[in-house]
Amino acid sequence: MNRLELSLTAEETDTETETTANSVAKSGSELAQGCDGSVLIDSTKGNTTEKDSPANVILRGYEIIDQAKQAVENQCPGVVSCADIIAMAARDAVHWAGGVFYEVPKGRKYGRRSKIEDTINLPPATLNSSALISLFGRRGFSVQQMVALSGGHTLGVARCSTFKNRLSKFDSKNDVDPALDPTYAKSLQQTCSAGDDTQAPFDWTSTSFDNQYFKAVQSNAGLLTSDQTLFGNPTTRAIVNYYAMNQAGFFYDFSQAMVKMGQLDVKEGDQGEVRLDCRKIN
Ligand code: HEM
Repeated sequence: MNRLELSLTAEETDTETETTANSVAKSGSELAQGCDGSVLIDSTKGNTTEKDSPANVILRGYEIIDQAKQAVENQCPGVVSCADIIAMAARDAVHWAGGVFYEVPKGRKYGRRSKIEDTINLPPATLNSSALISLFGRRGFSVQQMVALSGGHTLGVARCSTFKNRLSKFDSKNDVDPALDPTYAKSLQQTCSAGDDTQAPFDWTSTSFDNQYFKAVQSNAGLLTSDQTLFGNPTTRAIVNYYAMNQAGFFYDFSQAMVKMGQLDVKEGDQGEVRLDCRKIN
């Protein structure tokens, strides 16, 4: 079953690339509610779910998770949760993109709750390093683990709406965020002139899982405020420098932290259910 997603995501390059970054992003988005697959539930008339929050607009590829679920349901009905499938998809995505392979503990059940208001706990892109340290700290992560997890941004893209505040009218003294490299800022301004939904990669190898993200942050080319801020604080800067120099160290810490994130508020026994359809509460 570990290789289940292989045939499902390798259909065509575009889908594969999108799904890779998105599986990791879905897994990252579970920082708020825990790893119970609640991000997969479709909204209904009386309940707008996490999926339809602006914070989760970028998440795509839900149909790939559906296909994986269908494949396991055909073999052993009612046993494997979609929460486990997300965790395995993220693990495999990191591995296929050239990153580290890690084992994820399985047996998660689904949450019965998915509400748009839960997504307000997702980290806003404008957080500074002390806010990130305390947010991740509240969920039991060390500063080093927080920086390693931020390295998840080695994959994928962000929409201009999430960082355009850095490109003009930044604050009373600066039009452009002074933490941003001026040449990089110009190229982002050009990209974003096409509109808020235009996307920019987090680093210049956005489909490879590597340590280029940390090199981008070192060059003042961290895309979000929450990326660049890691270079503005002496403690997090030392960790950024370490990962930029030592990819193996980043891979090791990232894998440990992902396993830990995968165990946040896991629902077991009577607290959760194994949904038959990932999109609906049974
Ligand atoms: C440190 C706090 C974090 C903040 C503030 C943050 C914020 C964001 C934002 C604003 C986006 C772009 C969303 C959009 O354009 O709609 C994004 C994308 C992404 N995030 Fe994070 N994130 C954080 C942590 C994480 C973690 C822990 C992971 C996984 C380990 C992760 C993985 C991703 C990935 C892979 C994408 C790209 C998605 C794609 O290309 O489709 N992020 N994040």
